[in-house]
Amino acid sequence: MSQTERRWDLLLRLCHWTIVLLVVLQFATAEFGFLDLEWHFYFGYALLGVLGLRMVWGFIGPPAARFSSSVHGPSALIDYVRRFRQRKSSDYPAHNPLGALAAFALWLVLLGQGVSGLLTSDEVMFDGPLVQYFPEWERFASSWHHQLNDVLLILIALHVVAVAVYYLVKKENLLGPMIHGRRK
Ligand code: HEM
Ligand code: HEM
Repeated sequence: MSQTERRWDLLLRLCHWTIVLLVVLQFATAEFGFLDLEWHFYFGYALLGVLGLRMVWGFIGPPAARFSSSVHGPSALIDYVRRFRQRKSSDYPAHNPLGALAAFALWLVLLGQGVSGLLTSDEVMFDGPLVQYFPEWERFASSWHHQLNDVLLILIALHVVAVAVYYLVKKENLLGPMIHGRRK
């Protein structure tokens, strides 16, 4: 008989899927002319808020949500990659070493994108809210804001491919727990 256990709590899952939705809206508003650029700002603030909430949850949330449960040393990572093809589900309490690396990279780039946005200007009508206080940072931040979105897209593509590879090669369903919270 297969047993199930709780993996991701409701708040963590809500944060994940809200972040996904808001990132899609950020690209839609900035690149594809969906709604006004003003909405890019509103969705950007919301995204920074959800990221902030997830960061706080990483310190005070349940064990699986804590950053401390997802920090693994380099030797654990190498060992994990070596054993990757073993078709067993991982018994890590939170992200496995590879997943943790991806999660930290995604958070870092999302935060960089959000914070640089506050200092970015479209040079025509819209200035991020902090441009008036730190005008000397505008060029630097705008350049990062434009370059980081390629990095973000690459990370997201790797992230989604990794979830598929886990399912196909390792027979491990990571998506189910991110939807309903439980894993077998
Ligand atoms: C993680 C959150 C964010 C993502 C993923 C994101 C993504 C993007 C993308 C893809 C572009 C188009 C860049 C290009 O054409 O090369 C852009 C432009 C821009 N973003 Fe963001 N952004 C985020 C947050 C913010 C925030 C919080 C603000 C300000 C409050 C902001 C302000 C701007 C401005 C002013 C532009 C320039 C538009 C232009 O040059 O036409 N962004 N953003
Ligand atoms: C905008 C796109 C996305 C971003 C920015 C993103 C970001 C993240 C982040 C930051 C985490 C760590 C979660 C946490 O600990 O709070 C995560 C985990 C996860 N994401 Fe995404 N994600 C995206 C799209 C997707 C999509 C489309 C899927 C579905 C295939 C997905 C499936 C998962 C799964 C299954 C996990 C848990 C991985 C594990 O068990 O270690 N994500 N994602």
